Amino acid sequence: MKQSFPPHVLRAEYHENPLGLGCARPRLSWKLPSGDGIDQVAWQVRAASTECRLEAEPDLFDTERQEGTESVFVAWPGEVLTSRQRVYWQVRVWLRGQKQPTAWGKVAWFEVALLKRSDWKAKWISYGQDGKHDTPPSPFMRRGFTLPGAPVRARLHASALGLFEFHLNGNAVHPHVVLAPGWTDFRHRVQTMVFDVTSLVHEGANTLGAILGEGWYAGYLSCDGKRQIYGGSPALLAQLEIECADGSTVRIVSDKTWEGRTGPIRSADLYNGEHYDAQLELPGWAEPAQVDNTRNLWQPVYERKWPAGLKPDPRVAEPVGPIQEITPRQVTEPAAGVYLFDLGQNISGWARLRWIGRKGQVITLRFGEMLNADGSLYTANLRTAKATDSYTFGEEGLADWQPRFTFHGFRYVEVSGLGRAPDEETITGIVVHNAMRPTGVFHCSDQRVNQLESNIRWGLRSNFLEIPADCPQRDERLGWAGDIQIFSKTAAFFYDTDAFLTKWMRDLSDGQLADGAFPDIAPTFICGFGNAAWADAGVIVPWMMYRRFGDIEILRENYGAMSAWIGYQEKTSRRGVRPPTVYGDWLALDAVIPQHAPVPTDLVGTAYFARTCGIMTQVAALLGNWVDAQRFKKLHRQVIVAFQKEFVSVNGRVVGDCQTAYLLALAFGLLPEVQRPKAVERLVALIETRGWHLSTGFVGTPLLCPVLSRFGRHDVAMKLLLQDTYPSWLFTVKNGATTMWERWNSYTPDKGFGDVSMNSFNHYAYGAIGEWLVHYVAGMTPGAEAPAYRHIVFRPQPAEGLTSAAAELETPYGRAAINWEVLRGKLKGEVIVPPNTFADFTLGAPGVKYAITLDGRKVKVREGVSGLPSRLSSGHYVFRAL
Ligand code: BGC
Repeated sequence: MKQSFPPHVLRAEYHENPLGLGCARPRLSWKLPSGDGIDQVAWQVRAASTECRLEAEPDLFDTERQEGTESVFVAWPGEVLTSRQRVYWQVRVWLRGQKQPTAWGKVAWFEVALLKRSDWKAKWISYGQDGKHDTPPSPFMRRGFTLPGAPVRARLHASALGLFEFHLNGNAVHPHVVLAPGWTDFRHRVQTMVFDVTSLVHEGANTLGAILGEGWYAGYLSCDGKRQIYGGSPALLAQLEIECADGSTVRIVSDKTWEGRTGPIRSADLYNGEHYDAQLELPGWAEPAQVDNTRNLWQPVYERKWPAGLKPDPRVAEPVGPIQEITPRQVTEPAAGVYLFDLGQNISGWARLRWIGRKGQVITLRFGEMLNADGSLYTANLRTAKATDSYTFGEEGLADWQPRFTFHGFRYVEVSGLGRAPDEETITGIVVHNAMRPTGVFHCSDQRVNQLESNIRWGLRSNFLEIPADCPQRDERLGWAGDIQIFSKTAAFFYDTDAFLTKWMRDLSDGQLADGAFPDIAPTFICGFGNAAWADAGVIVPWMMYRRFGDIEILRENYGAMSAWIGYQEKTSRRGVRPPTVYGDWLALDAVIPQHAPVPTDLVGTAYFARTCGIMTQVAALLGNWVDAQRFKKLHRQVIVAFQKEFVSVNGRVVGDCQTAYLLALAFGLLPEVQRPKAVERLVALIETRGWHLSTGFVGTPLLCPVLSRFGRHDVAMKLLLQDTYPSWLFTVKNGATTMWERWNSYTPDKGFGDVSMNSFNHYAYGAIGEWLVHYVAGMTPGAEAPAYRHIVFRPQPAEGLTSAAAELETPYGRAAINWEVLRGKLKGEVIVPPNTFADFTLGAPGVKYAITLDGRKVKVREGVSGLPSRLSSGHYVFRAL
């Protein structure tokens, strides 16, 4: 008898119980209970406007039984929704082999955001002069109001050109949300957010207040010392909507009835840090009851016109928040009275200071990733980013402070001005990034590789802060498209990045030129357009999102932009060959000029042109655009032929004759079959001549191990993984890395720090090997027959140097896992196939016989021979080589 627990983890679009959903027809997802052979055959959803109605008479809809096996991103079965609408919903399913449906699952809900521009009655308001000035103090703004009756429901709809922090009647409105509403291309789009403030308002006098930060809107941005990229000073948009028990509604909006003044935040900048003077604090500034004796310093604010072309966009991605606290593991005193706190982990975020001081005492915090040889803080690689916070005591007593409108990339905090030796409470590291769900883990028998896994994870965590950034520490922190293009698959394993990247794809397409060229960075405001491997993110990232998350909507939303990129490449190519572009195999070690490898950039461009045409052929077919599919297919073939003509000799040599040239040709299917073995041979020879070392940069590195394993040289891939002399992944681990470095030689014991003009110790790009660790070392790959790991391929293979490996992933359907170990020369292990999915299982080693049993009942499923996969339905299996 199969179990019939109800569906769980109910999601509307990307999230469970989202407040402020930005669409009128949300897709619904649920997970089925895990177990052996669990498959959905039909489902039923009911929805109502209140929880009580749901059971009795669902007033929105009841689908009744719908035949259908899909449980991820099921199309909205109801009417189009409207702004502010709250919906309660439930689902039950019929499982294969069961007559009765499961019980109804837990009630889920969601609430729609303000969908239309016309829903916004609030005005944009600013404080102070909107001119050219250096980082000014952060404005505090507020408005008092009286509520005639008891509130039953209150929502604060909010946005800012810049950053906001709201307070209501003396309470923080969103203590777990920081740096909001975030960063978009403010010429086109600004994110809006909704907060439930029902418990913070009350009958009678109330005060709503907000502190504004410059953030990405008006603060320093990019490495050329520019600020105020989008506007002169930040602006606030607030719309508080309150329903009272008597049915009346009250709406308080930002407008010129608000008042503003500056306070203790003397300056706050993302790169440079925050300076807080508690002597200027405004006690009770957002509380109605307080008598404010500084009242005369509050000034009128001014209203700004709604910027032309600016679209309010309800936030899709998880908010940025303080995610974890880290207690320093060591404190040193490199100079008298200067203390250095070592978190033991490179992170992005800030430090919380707890200290008893005296009035007027100033404590200064500086942040850095590394130490100089003398044990002092190394900050040269931050370039112009000052990364310095300070706190001035307002009175004698305990300060418990953290900044609001900055963040740093750091492992070390240097603190001066304490006046006496610190204790273990003085500094706490606060890790800050988007609150995405962690989904995947990998580990194996080699602790160094496990440290590498941790470094990849932290590289992601440090750089998935509002946008996928290159680095979190220097005066850059930009959404470089090439970096996320190569890292996005690995990222999608470790975290559920679907919502985060959906938002970033909007940034990318907002920046696309009319001729179809995608920008190199998004949000874009500097640098170029249409550069190979960078601009290609516009096609590769959404395709990855469809494959990993089953998110077909991302393809629909971006189809026009993706096709336009193909059109641009077609127009600007010479008979299928792309012109030279800027970056090539960025930071490769074959480089003659420091940052460029001998792999010609037109070769890189043409390879990517072929790759993106190949993807678009599949995308067009998937969306039913058959004419386009044929066109892309033809173009794909033409570009491959052009690549071969231009870059491949009759003997199979690829121009450049370097690792990346062969990797591109092999990975993107650009060589005729007969030439492939030779290319693999040459690739291996090029690795061997370097003493089994890589020489690849951003373009080649992510392809290196996957190509070797795929083309029968898993042994060489493993050699590269376990290599710990320069250059290699484990070389960085051996030298104490806790995150991924930007360069293979960001630091070497003999030469010290690498090129200071561009040297980050927290760049995720080379972490792209994470994908291969899971696919080939653990042996778990998303299968081709269905997206979102509905089809999984398990292929464990023993590898020299490891005795065990394991990977575990919370897929959109549920938990998938594999582990294997070699015991007395024999491979054995387990796999978990999530409910409502299927898997192929085969042993990696050729010709080996194996047995699989279904755990628990030990039912023999099948005895197979490697190469002939066994198809498995959901369940927990044990396998062993015979
Ligand atoms: C960034 C890189 C980026 C590159 C492109 C660098 O400054 O940090 O990661 O992709 O520029 O040229």
